[in-house]
Formats: sequence, structure tokens, C-alpha cells
Amino acid sequence: MAVLDILVYPDPRLREIAEPVVRVDDGILALVDDMAETMYQAPGIGLAAIQVNVPQRVIIIDVSKDQSELRVFINPQIVAREGNQEIEEGCLSVPEVFAPVQRSESIVVRALNREGERFETRAEGLLSVCIQHEIDHLDGKVFVDYLSRLKQERILKRLQKQAKRAVPTASAQDAVTL
Ligand code: NI
Repeated sequence: MAVLDILVYPDPRLREIAEPVVRVDDGILALVDDMAETMYQAPGIGLAAIQVNVPQRVIIIDVSKDQSELRVFINPQIVAREGNQEIEEGCLSVPEVFAPVQRSESIVVRALNREGERFETRAEGLLSVCIQHEIDHLDGKVFVDYLSRLKQERILKRLQKQAKRAVPTASAQDAVTL
């Protein structure tokens, strides 16, 4: 397993539309393992493959308090939505930025699991938000796209300042790219 580099907004590679996974093979399973290690180390509660520069439709999520409930969604699709909710979202690709976003309260999602089997599940609350946020990544969307133009400009300025301050960290040095 390896910790991967996470692309940082406004990296244009975050705008790519991820391709469906054709077969859940050893390469995909290795990707999932590396993504999990990357997400847990960050730490974050969700990660899309596109964020580690792999444009395939794979997302992972763990909303538990103790990193004990890894969920894997391959080729995820939202097939039903209900209600509205808004929570403060953050993103590993947009460091230190948090803002409320309107999402569906409850969703039904269809995907493949790590065994390559089709499953369908209903999600509410934080898990529902997280799935919607990660599927957005697969479609080249970042949560700041939902904010006003003015807020987006402020975020860009802040990230540029952060980038100037940044020094290579241990995790960045250890990172590999798939
Ligand atoms: Ni994100």
C-alpha cells in the first residue's frame, strides 16, 4: 500500500470526467487500498480516484469515528433522491476551506463493490452528502463550484498564498503516482 499525492484545486486534472471501471481486477483493488491509506492519513472521510490522478469511477468513504467502516463504490450512480440538506463541506483537494452546500437529504445509490458485485443502498445525512460530493468529483466537479463567484475568487487567492508557504512534507516525499 502507498500514500498517494492528492491533486489540489484548481488543478485542471480535477476537471476530467472519470471513465467507468470495466473490470474490478487486482489493479482496481490495489488502487482502492492505496486510496484508503491516503484518505486515512490525510485524514478525510471520502476520496475519489480522480483526486489521486486516476480518472476512473471509484470512490471510497468512511464516515465512522474510528476509521472502521470503509465503503467502496465502483461506477456509482444515484438512482433516487429526496429532500434537501446543507452542511459545511470540506475537501482534501481544497485544503482548509469549508462552506455549506445544498444537497439531497436522502439518496439511493447503485454501484459495484470490491468483489465486482452490483449493490444498491440508501444513504442519509452525512453519508449521503459524502457520496454526492465524491460522485461530483467523478464528473469533474468540486464543491466550491456551488459557491458564489466572489467566494470562489477568495478561495483561489487563499490557496495561492498557501501554496507559496508550502514546504514538502514527509507524505508528499513518500508519494507515488499510479
Ligand atoms: Ni472532495
